[in-house]
Amino acid sequence: MPDARGSATTGWSGRYDVVIVGAGHGGAHAAAALRQHGFAGSVAMVGDEPRLPYERPPLSKDYLSGETPFEQLLLHPPAFWQERDVEILTDRRVTTVDARAHRVRCDDGTVLEYGHLVWATGGTPRTLSCPGHDLGGVHTVRTVADSDRLRAELPAVTRAVVVGGGYIGLEAAAVLRAAGKHVTVVEAQDRVLARVAGAPLSRFYEALHRTHGVDLRLGASVERLEGASRVAGVRLADGELLPCELVIVGIGIVPAVAPLRAAGAAGSDGVVVDERCRTTLPDVFAIGDCAAHRNRFADDAVIRLESVQNAHDQAAVVARILAGTDARYDAVPWFWSKQYDLRLQTVGLSTGHDATVVRGDPATGRFSVVYLREGRVVALDCVNAVKDYVQGRKLVAARARVDPALLADPALPLKELASA
Ligand code: APR
Repeated sequence: MPDARGSATTGWSGRYDVVIVGAGHGGAHAAAALRQHGFAGSVAMVGDEPRLPYERPPLSKDYLSGETPFEQLLLHPPAFWQERDVEILTDRRVTTVDARAHRVRCDDGTVLEYGHLVWATGGTPRTLSCPGHDLGGVHTVRTVADSDRLRAELPAVTRAVVVGGGYIGLEAAAVLRAAGKHVTVVEAQDRVLARVAGAPLSRFYEALHRTHGVDLRLGASVERLEGASRVAGVRLADGELLPCELVIVGIGIVPAVAPLRAAGAAGSDGVVVDERCRTTLPDVFAIGDCAAHRNRFADDAVIRLESVQNAHDQAAVVARILAGTDARYDAVPWFWSKQYDLRLQTVGLSTGHDATVVRGDPATGRFSVVYLREGRVVALDCVNAVKDYVQGRKLVAARARVDPALLADPALPLKELASA
Protein backbone atom coordinates (compact mmCIF):
# COMPACT_ATOMS: atom_id res chain seq x y z
CA MET A 1 0.00 0.00 0.00
CA PRO A 2 1.11 3.57 -0.42
CA ASP A 3 3.45 4.87 2.24
CA ALA A 4 3.51 8.33 3.79
CA ARG A 5 5.37 9.83 0.83
CA GLY A 6 2.74 8.62 -1.57
CA SER A 7 4.81 5.76 -2.96
CA ALA A 8 3.63 2.19 -2.93
CA THR A 9 5.69 -0.56 -1.33
CA THR A 10 7.56 -3.09 -3.43
CA GLY A 11 5.77 -6.01 -4.99
CA TRP A 12 2.50 -4.11 -4.96
CA SER A 13 0.08 -4.70 -7.77
CA GLY A 14 -2.97 -2.90 -8.99
CA ARG A 15 -4.92 -1.48 -11.89
CA TYR A 16 -4.96 2.17 -12.92
CA ASP A 17 -6.75 3.95 -15.70
CA VAL A 18 -3.47 5.63 -16.59
CA VAL A 19 0.00 4.37 -15.78
CA ILE A 20 2.79 6.82 -16.49
CA VAL A 21 6.26 5.31 -16.77
CA GLY A 22 8.95 7.85 -15.92
CA ALA A 23 8.72 10.55 -13.25
CA GLY A 24 10.72 13.29 -14.95
CA HIS A 25 9.42 16.50 -16.51
CA GLY A 26 7.22 14.67 -19.03
CA GLY A 27 5.71 12.12 -16.67
CA ALA A 28 5.11 14.62 -13.89
CA HIS A 29 3.47 17.12 -16.17
CA ALA A 30 1.29 14.43 -17.75
CA ALA A 31 -0.01 13.49 -14.30
CA ALA A 32 -0.56 17.09 -13.22
CA ALA A 33 -2.19 18.03 -16.53
CA LEU A 34 -4.56 15.06 -16.41
CA ARG A 35 -6.05 16.45 -13.21
CA GLN A 36 -5.91 20.00 -14.53
CA HIS A 37 -8.07 18.91 -17.46
CA GLY A 38 -10.51 17.14 -15.17
CA PHE A 39 -9.47 13.53 -15.66
CA ALA A 40 -11.18 11.65 -12.82
CA GLY A 41 -9.73 8.16 -13.32
CA SER A 42 -6.95 6.56 -11.31
CA VAL A 43 -3.38 7.61 -12.12
CA ALA A 44 -0.07 6.02 -11.14
CA MET A 45 3.41 7.17 -12.04
CA VAL A 46 6.41 4.84 -11.83
CA GLY A 47 9.90 6.29 -11.43
CA ASP A 48 13.26 4.60 -10.99
CA GLU A 49 14.64 7.20 -8.58
CA PRO A 50 13.88 7.30 -4.85
CA ARG A 51 12.46 10.83 -5.13
CA LEU A 52 9.45 12.80 -6.15
CA PRO A 53 9.69 14.48 -9.59
CA TYR A 54 12.25 17.26 -9.73
CA GLU A 55 13.80 19.67 -12.21
CA ARG A 56 16.80 18.26 -14.05
CA PRO A 57 18.33 21.35 -15.69
CA PRO A 58 19.91 22.67 -12.44
CA LEU A 59 21.81 19.40 -11.94
CA SER A 60 24.61 20.65 -14.19
CA LYS A 61 24.23 24.28 -13.06
CA ASP A 62 23.07 25.75 -9.73
CA TYR A 63 22.58 22.42 -7.99
CA LEU A 64 26.03 21.23 -8.99
CA SER A 65 27.55 24.46 -7.71
CA GLY A 66 25.69 24.07 -4.40
CA GLU A 67 23.70 27.30 -4.83
CA THR A 68 20.30 25.61 -5.05
CA PRO A 69 19.25 22.98 -2.49
CA PHE A 70 17.31 19.90 -3.57
CA GLU A 71 14.04 21.12 -2.01
CA GLN A 72 13.95 23.92 -4.56
CA LEU A 73 14.26 21.41 -7.38
CA LEU A 74 11.04 19.57 -6.55
CA LEU A 75 8.49 20.19 -9.30
CA HIS A 76 5.73 20.06 -6.68
CA PRO A 77 5.62 19.46 -2.92
CA PRO A 78 4.44 16.01 -1.70
CA ALA A 79 0.99 17.39 -0.83
CA PHE A 80 0.41 18.37 -4.47
CA TRP A 81 0.46 14.74 -5.54
CA GLN A 82 -1.62 13.56 -2.59
CA GLU A 83 -4.27 16.21 -3.20
CA ARG A 84 -4.52 15.14 -6.82
CA ASP A 85 -4.56 11.47 -5.94
CA VAL A 86 -1.58 10.59 -8.11
CA GLU A 87 0.08 7.41 -6.90
CA ILE A 88 3.85 7.74 -7.22
CA LEU A 89 5.72 4.46 -7.21
CA THR A 90 9.33 5.42 -6.67
CA ASP A 91 12.55 3.45 -6.86
CA ARG A 92 11.49 0.88 -9.41
CA ARG A 93 11.88 0.46 -13.11
CA VAL A 94 9.43 -1.00 -15.62
CA THR A 95 11.19 -3.89 -17.31
CA THR A 96 8.40 -5.51 -19.34
CA VAL A 97 5.36 -4.27 -21.18
CA ASP A 98 2.62 -6.67 -22.22
CA ALA A 99 0.67 -4.48 -24.63
CA ARG A 100 -2.02 -7.06 -25.34
CA ALA A 101 -2.78 -7.64 -21.65
CA HIS A 102 -2.30 -3.93 -20.87
CA ARG A 103 0.15 -4.76 -18.10
CA VAL A 104 3.63 -3.68 -17.05
CA ARG A 105 6.04 -5.39 -14.69
CA CYS A 106 8.74 -3.69 -12.64
CA ASP A 107 12.17 -4.90 -11.54
CA ASP A 108 10.92 -5.27 -7.94
CA GLY A 109 8.01 -7.51 -8.93
CA THR A 110 5.36 -4.78 -9.00
CA VAL A 111 2.73 -5.54 -11.64
CA LEU A 112 0.41 -2.81 -12.89
CA GLU A 113 -2.49 -3.10 -15.27
CA TYR A 114 -3.40 -0.03 -17.24
CA GLY A 115 -6.15 1.44 -19.33
CA HIS A 116 -3.66 3.71 -21.08
CA LEU A 117 0.10 3.76 -20.75
CA VAL A 118 2.19 6.93 -21.04
CA TRP A 119 5.86 6.18 -21.67
CA ALA A 120 7.93 9.12 -20.43
CA THR A 121 11.26 7.55 -19.59
CA GLY A 122 13.61 10.02 -21.26
CA GLY A 123 17.04 8.51 -21.69
CA THR A 124 20.14 7.31 -19.95
CA PRO A 125 23.45 9.10 -20.43
CA ARG A 126 25.68 7.63 -23.11
CA THR A 127 28.90 6.38 -21.62
CA LEU A 128 32.33 6.02 -23.16
CA SER A 129 33.16 2.56 -24.39
CA CYS A 130 36.96 2.91 -24.34
CA PRO A 131 39.24 1.17 -21.81
CA GLY A 132 38.93 2.76 -18.36
CA HIS A 133 35.38 4.06 -18.91
CA ASP A 134 34.27 2.46 -15.64
CA LEU A 135 37.08 3.76 -13.40
CA GLY A 136 36.23 5.62 -10.20
CA GLY A 137 35.91 9.36 -10.63
CA VAL A 138 34.16 9.08 -14.02
CA HIS A 139 30.73 10.68 -13.91
CA THR A 140 27.64 11.34 -15.96
CA VAL A 141 25.04 13.95 -14.98
CA ARG A 142 21.39 13.00 -15.32
CA THR A 143 20.05 12.43 -11.80
CA VAL A 144 20.38 14.08 -8.40
CA ALA A 145 22.39 11.06 -7.29
CA ASP A 146 24.83 11.63 -10.18
CA SER A 147 25.22 15.29 -9.27
CA ASP A 148 25.62 14.45 -5.55
CA ARG A 149 28.37 11.92 -6.26
CA LEU A 150 30.18 14.44 -8.40
CA ARG A 151 29.87 17.22 -5.82
CA ALA A 152 31.16 14.96 -3.07
CA GLU A 153 34.37 14.37 -4.99
CA LEU A 154 35.03 17.97 -5.99
CA PRO A 155 36.91 19.12 -2.88
CA ALA A 156 39.70 16.62 -3.62
CA VAL A 157 39.89 17.54 -7.31
CA THR A 158 42.22 20.08 -8.89
CA ARG A 159 42.07 18.95 -12.53
CA ALA A 160 38.96 17.76 -14.35
CA VAL A 161 38.38 16.62 -17.92
CA VAL A 162 34.93 17.08 -19.43
CA VAL A 163 34.18 14.84 -22.40
CA GLY A 164 31.53 16.39 -24.63
CA GLY A 165 30.90 20.05 -25.42
CA GLY A 166 27.09 19.97 -25.31
CA TYR A 167 24.91 21.65 -22.69
CA ILE A 168 25.88 19.23 -19.93
CA GLY A 169 29.61 19.40 -20.58
CA LEU A 170 29.81 23.17 -20.97
CA GLU A 171 27.53 23.91 -18.02
CA ALA A 172 29.54 21.58 -15.81
CA ALA A 173 32.78 23.12 -17.10
CA ALA A 174 31.52 26.59 -16.12
CA VAL A 175 30.64 25.39 -12.60
CA LEU A 176 34.01 23.71 -12.16
CA ARG A 177 35.89 26.78 -13.37
CA ALA A 178 33.95 28.95 -10.93
CA ALA A 179 35.05 26.50 -8.23
CA GLY A 180 38.66 27.10 -9.27
CA LYS A 181 39.33 23.73 -10.90
CA HIS A 182 41.56 23.32 -13.93
CA VAL A 183 39.20 22.19 -16.68
CA THR A 184 39.81 20.66 -20.10
CA VAL A 185 36.85 20.05 -22.42
CA VAL A 186 37.28 17.38 -25.09
CA GLU A 187 34.75 17.68 -27.92
CA ALA A 188 34.71 15.24 -30.83
CA GLN A 189 33.21 17.65 -33.37
CA ASP A 190 34.84 20.80 -34.69
CA ARG A 191 32.51 23.02 -32.67
CA VAL A 192 30.70 22.95 -29.33
CA LEU A 193 26.90 22.86 -28.96
CA ALA A 194 26.56 21.43 -32.45
CA ARG A 195 23.33 19.57 -31.64
CA VAL A 196 21.43 22.58 -30.38
CA ALA A 197 22.93 25.81 -31.77
CA GLY A 198 24.30 27.29 -34.97
CA ALA A 199 27.97 27.86 -35.76
CA PRO A 200 28.07 31.56 -34.73
CA LEU A 201 26.90 30.58 -31.27
CA SER A 202 29.42 27.77 -31.06
CA ARG A 203 32.22 30.21 -31.84
CA PHE A 204 30.97 32.62 -29.18
CA TYR A 205 30.78 29.91 -26.51
CA GLU A 206 34.18 28.53 -27.43
CA ALA A 207 35.71 32.00 -26.92
CA LEU A 208 33.73 32.47 -23.71
CA HIS A 209 35.03 29.26 -22.16
CA ARG A 210 38.58 29.96 -23.24
CA THR A 211 38.36 33.44 -21.72
CA HIS A 212 37.28 31.78 -18.48
CA GLY A 213 40.35 29.59 -18.60
CA VAL A 214 38.91 26.37 -20.00
CA ASP A 215 41.34 24.36 -22.10
CA LEU A 216 39.05 23.49 -25.00
CA ARG A 217 39.99 20.74 -27.44
CA LEU A 218 37.85 20.51 -30.56
CA GLY A 219 37.91 17.60 -32.99
CA ALA A 220 39.57 15.54 -30.27
CA SER A 221 38.78 11.98 -29.31
CA VAL A 222 39.41 9.94 -26.21
CA GLU A 223 41.55 6.84 -26.66
CA ARG A 224 41.29 5.57 -23.08
CA LEU A 225 41.00 6.61 -19.46
CA GLU A 226 44.04 5.78 -17.38
CA GLY A 227 44.35 4.95 -13.70
CA ALA A 228 44.38 2.01 -11.26
CA SER A 229 40.97 2.08 -9.63
CA ARG A 230 40.39 5.84 -9.95
CA VAL A 231 40.89 7.84 -13.07
CA ALA A 232 44.28 9.59 -13.25
CA GLY A 233 44.24 10.84 -16.81
CA VAL A 234 42.59 10.93 -20.22
CA ARG A 235 44.65 9.70 -23.15
CA LEU A 236 43.63 11.36 -26.41
CA ALA A 237 43.84 9.69 -29.81
CA ASP A 238 46.83 11.86 -30.74
CA GLY A 239 48.75 10.40 -27.79
CA GLU A 240 48.52 13.34 -25.41
CA LEU A 241 47.74 12.56 -21.77
CA LEU A 242 45.51 14.96 -19.84
CA PRO A 243 46.19 14.26 -16.14
CA CYS A 244 43.08 14.64 -13.96
CA GLU A 245 41.33 13.38 -10.86
CA LEU A 246 37.82 13.56 -12.26
CA VAL A 247 36.08 13.05 -15.60
CA ILE A 248 32.59 14.21 -16.55
CA VAL A 249 31.09 12.50 -19.56
CA GLY A 250 28.38 14.54 -21.31
CA ILE A 251 28.11 12.86 -24.70
CA GLY A 252 24.36 12.67 -25.08
CA ILE A 253 21.67 10.24 -24.09
CA VAL A 254 20.28 6.92 -25.26
CA PRO A 255 16.45 6.87 -25.24
CA ALA A 256 15.19 4.45 -22.57
CA VAL A 257 12.73 2.51 -24.68
CA ALA A 258 13.93 -1.11 -24.55
CA PRO A 259 10.81 -2.55 -22.84
CA LEU A 260 8.52 -0.73 -25.24
CA ARG A 261 10.49 -1.81 -28.30
CA ALA A 262 10.55 -5.39 -26.98
CA ALA A 263 6.75 -5.18 -26.74
CA GLY A 264 6.64 -4.35 -30.44
CA ALA A 265 6.52 -0.54 -30.58
CA ALA A 266 7.94 0.81 -33.83
CA GLY A 267 11.07 2.93 -33.62
CA SER A 268 14.82 2.88 -33.89
CA ASP A 269 16.21 5.92 -32.13
CA GLY A 270 13.42 6.12 -29.55
CA VAL A 271 9.83 5.09 -30.31
CA VAL A 272 7.82 6.54 -33.13
CA VAL A 273 4.72 8.53 -32.22
CA ASP A 274 2.08 10.32 -34.30
CA GLU A 275 0.92 13.91 -33.80
CA ARG A 276 -1.20 12.73 -30.86
CA CYS A 277 1.87 11.12 -29.25
CA ARG A 278 0.47 7.63 -29.88
CA THR A 279 2.95 4.81 -30.37
CA THR A 280 2.14 1.91 -32.67
CA LEU A 281 0.98 -0.11 -29.64
CA PRO A 282 -2.68 0.13 -28.65
CA ASP A 283 -3.39 2.63 -25.85
CA VAL A 284 0.29 3.44 -25.42
CA PHE A 285 1.57 7.01 -25.72
CA ALA A 286 5.18 8.17 -25.59
CA ILE A 287 6.37 11.67 -24.74
CA GLY A 288 9.55 13.62 -24.17
CA ASP A 289 13.17 12.81 -25.03
CA CYS A 290 12.32 9.27 -26.16
CA ALA A 291 9.46 10.14 -28.55
CA ALA A 292 10.41 10.31 -32.25
CA HIS A 293 7.83 12.55 -33.88
CA ARG A 294 7.31 14.43 -37.11
CA ASN A 295 8.11 18.07 -36.39
CA ARG A 296 7.16 20.90 -38.71
CA PHE A 297 9.93 23.07 -37.27
CA ALA A 298 12.36 20.43 -38.56
CA ASP A 299 10.84 20.49 -42.06
CA ASP A 300 8.59 17.60 -41.13
CA ALA A 301 11.50 15.30 -40.37
CA VAL A 302 10.99 12.65 -37.68
CA ILE A 303 13.13 13.76 -34.76
CA ARG A 304 13.49 13.44 -31.02
CA LEU A 305 13.69 16.66 -29.08
CA GLU A 306 15.64 16.58 -25.85
CA SER A 307 14.15 19.47 -23.95
CA VAL A 308 11.90 20.33 -21.05
CA GLN A 309 9.64 22.17 -23.49
CA ASN A 310 9.03 19.10 -25.60
CA ALA A 311 8.40 16.86 -22.59
CA HIS A 312 6.00 19.38 -21.13
CA ASP A 313 4.08 20.13 -24.32
CA GLN A 314 3.75 16.50 -25.38
CA ALA A 315 2.55 15.67 -21.86
CA ALA A 316 -0.12 18.34 -22.21
CA VAL A 317 -1.30 16.84 -25.51
CA VAL A 318 -1.67 13.36 -24.01
CA ALA A 319 -3.41 14.69 -20.90
CA ARG A 320 -5.95 16.55 -23.02
CA ILE A 321 -6.64 13.50 -25.16
CA LEU A 322 -7.08 11.24 -22.15
CA ALA A 323 -9.33 13.82 -20.52
CA GLY A 324 -11.55 13.76 -23.59
CA THR A 325 -10.44 16.68 -25.79
CA ASP A 326 -8.57 16.11 -29.00
CA ALA A 327 -5.11 17.68 -29.27
CA ARG A 328 -2.09 17.52 -31.54
CA TYR A 329 1.51 18.35 -30.87
CA ASP A 330 2.70 21.36 -32.82
CA ALA A 331 4.73 23.41 -30.35
CA VAL A 332 7.58 25.76 -31.16
CA PRO A 333 10.76 24.12 -29.79
CA TRP A 334 12.80 26.04 -27.24
CA PHE A 335 15.86 25.34 -25.13
CA TRP A 336 17.99 27.19 -22.65
CA SER A 337 21.36 26.99 -21.00
CA LYS A 338 23.20 28.98 -18.37
CA GLN A 339 26.95 29.25 -18.39
CA TYR A 340 28.85 31.73 -16.22
CA ASP A 341 26.59 34.81 -16.16
CA LEU A 342 25.14 34.22 -19.62
CA ARG A 343 21.71 32.88 -20.33
CA LEU A 344 21.28 31.28 -23.74
CA GLN A 345 17.73 30.88 -24.99
CA THR A 346 17.02 29.18 -28.28
CA VAL A 347 13.72 29.13 -30.10
CA GLY A 348 13.12 27.06 -33.20
CA LEU A 349 15.49 24.62 -34.86
CA SER A 350 18.37 26.04 -36.87
CA THR A 351 19.10 22.80 -38.71
CA GLY A 352 19.12 23.39 -42.44
CA HIS A 353 19.40 27.20 -42.26
CA ASP A 354 21.06 28.93 -45.23
CA ALA A 355 21.71 32.38 -43.71
CA THR A 356 22.37 33.93 -40.33
CA VAL A 357 21.95 37.46 -39.05
CA VAL A 358 23.66 38.71 -35.90
CA ARG A 359 21.67 41.25 -33.87
CA GLY A 360 23.80 43.24 -31.47
CA ASP A 361 27.46 42.95 -30.67
CA PRO A 362 28.62 39.60 -29.24
CA ALA A 363 31.48 41.47 -27.54
CA THR A 364 28.91 43.05 -25.21
CA GLY A 365 27.70 39.62 -24.10
CA ARG A 366 24.16 40.50 -25.24
CA PHE A 367 23.12 39.59 -28.76
CA SER A 368 21.06 37.21 -30.86
CA VAL A 369 21.65 35.13 -33.92
CA VAL A 370 18.70 34.80 -36.26
CA TYR A 371 18.66 31.78 -38.57
CA LEU A 372 16.93 31.97 -41.93
CA ARG A 373 16.00 29.44 -44.51
CA GLU A 374 14.91 30.63 -47.94
CA GLY A 375 14.38 34.07 -46.45
CA ARG A 376 12.21 32.85 -43.57
CA VAL A 377 13.08 32.94 -39.88
CA VAL A 378 13.50 29.38 -38.55
CA ALA A 379 15.31 29.92 -35.23
CA LEU A 380 16.97 32.38 -32.89
CA ASP A 381 19.76 31.91 -30.39
CA CYS A 382 19.52 34.71 -27.83
CA VAL A 383 22.32 35.44 -25.38
CA ASN A 384 21.16 37.58 -22.45
CA ALA A 385 18.58 38.93 -24.89
CA VAL A 386 15.28 37.84 -23.42
CA LYS A 387 13.21 40.32 -25.44
CA ASP A 388 14.51 38.93 -28.71
CA TYR A 389 13.73 35.45 -27.46
CA VAL A 390 10.17 36.27 -26.44
CA GLN A 391 9.40 38.36 -29.49
CA GLY A 392 11.27 36.10 -31.89
CA ARG A 393 8.97 33.17 -31.10
CA LYS A 394 6.27 34.71 -33.26
CA LEU A 395 8.65 35.03 -36.18
CA VAL A 396 9.64 31.37 -35.82
CA ALA A 397 6.07 30.16 -35.34
CA ALA A 398 4.99 32.01 -38.49
CA ARG A 399 8.19 31.24 -40.39
CA ALA A 400 8.08 34.96 -41.12
CA ARG A 401 9.83 36.40 -44.12
CA VAL A 402 11.79 39.41 -42.84
CA ASP A 403 14.37 41.63 -44.47
CA PRO A 404 17.76 40.59 -42.99
CA ALA A 405 18.80 44.26 -42.81
CA LEU A 406 15.90 44.93 -40.43
CA LEU A 407 16.69 41.85 -38.35
CA ALA A 408 20.27 43.03 -38.01
CA ASP A 409 19.23 46.30 -36.34
CA PRO A 410 18.93 45.67 -32.58
CA ALA A 411 17.14 49.00 -32.19
CA LEU A 412 14.14 47.58 -34.08
CA PRO A 413 12.10 45.35 -31.74
CA LEU A 414 11.35 41.97 -33.30
CA LYS A 415 7.67 42.33 -32.43
CA GLU A 416 7.43 45.23 -34.83
CA LEU A 417 9.00 43.13 -37.55
CA ALA A 418 6.59 40.35 -36.72
CA SER A 419 3.57 42.55 -37.28
CA ALA A 420 5.12 44.04 -40.42
N1 APR B 1 34.07 12.41 -27.24
C1 APR B 1 33.90 13.75 -27.21
N2 APR B 1 32.75 14.36 -27.50
C2 APR B 1 31.71 13.60 -27.83
C3 APR B 1 31.79 12.19 -27.90
C4 APR B 1 33.05 11.60 -27.59
N3 APR B 1 33.22 10.28 -27.61
N4 APR B 1 30.59 11.72 -28.26
C5 APR B 1 29.78 12.78 -28.40
N5 APR B 1 30.44 13.91 -28.14
C6 APR B 1 29.93 15.28 -28.12
C7 APR B 1 28.92 15.61 -29.19
O1 APR B 1 29.57 16.01 -30.37
C8 APR B 1 28.13 16.73 -28.54
O2 APR B 1 28.72 17.99 -28.78
O3 APR B 1 29.21 15.44 -26.90
C9 APR B 1 28.24 16.45 -27.06
C10 APR B 1 26.94 15.94 -26.45
O4 APR B 1 26.01 16.97 -26.46
P1 APR B 1 24.44 16.68 -26.32
O5 APR B 1 24.03 15.70 -27.34
O6 APR B 1 23.79 18.00 -26.25
O7 APR B 1 24.30 15.89 -24.93
P2 APR B 1 24.55 16.34 -23.42
O8 APR B 1 25.22 17.66 -23.33
O9 APR B 1 25.17 15.16 -22.77
O10 APR B 1 23.10 16.53 -22.89
C11 APR B 1 22.32 15.36 -22.65
O11 APR B 1 20.92 16.56 -21.13
O12 APR B 1 20.81 18.87 -20.87
C12 APR B 1 20.21 17.75 -21.41
O13 APR B 1 19.12 18.62 -23.35
C13 APR B 1 20.22 17.89 -22.90
O14 APR B 1 18.92 15.97 -23.26
C14 APR B 1 20.20 16.47 -23.33
C15 APR B 1 20.96 15.73 -22.28
